[in-house]
Amino acid sequence: MDNQVRIAVLVSGGGTNLQALIDAEQAGTIQSGSIQLVVSNNPSAFALERAAKAGIDTVVVSRKKCGSQEAFEQAIMDALSQYQIDIIVLAGFMSILSERFTSTYPKRIINVHPSLIPSFCGKGFYGLRVHEAALAYGVKVTGATVHFVNEIPDGGEIILQKAVAIRENDTPETLQKRVMRLAEWKILPAAVEKVAAQMKGQKGE
Ligand code: GAR
Repeated sequence: MDNQVRIAVLVSGGGTNLQALIDAEQAGTIQSGSIQLVVSNNPSAFALERAAKAGIDTVVVSRKKCGSQEAFEQAIMDALSQYQIDIIVLAGFMSILSERFTSTYPKRIINVHPSLIPSFCGKGFYGLRVHEAALAYGVKVTGATVHFVNEIPDGGEIILQKAVAIRENDTPETLQKRVMRLAEWKILPAAVEKVAAQMKGQKGE
């Protein structure tokens, strides 16, 4: 079991994507890796309660308390190395990471974004704002994307995408919920298993 891929999940809020990962691990959909650590930049994130309930270690790293972006990222990196983390999953992590951070973990950081990249992504597009922008533009199809993270916000290689039809009476809130349920909660665990399985092969059977 020592070639099992060690996963950390970085969160900021409700943590429904974290829950989808926890459920997938318990159901065996994720079988090549296991979640060892949850890191939150927000001490009151409900995601922390979800992690605790599942018996997963948690660390809170506050950008404000750290004083600088560099110290903030260093504190996260220290926790990741303490737990010997192989894969980092950004699941509603609402802080952009610098190139120093992203280049430390090439093809090892995975993000879920609530649109079909390259639409409605990049700086300023996060959470409900993404769905507001999609509705304002009038697109008829949106969805979610899981991709590797590099130095370009939402610009790394795409791993999986899933489309979701927009309904005439959608609000940003109804659309957000449907994109989560029909796309994010499915493709995030699937992408994590895909990447973990590949990495597990590299770690040697
Ligand atoms: C999710 O919809 C996720 O795709 C989005 O924030 C939400 C977090 O929800 N992430 C981004 O917008 C990143 N650019 P959750 O905390 O319930 O998983």
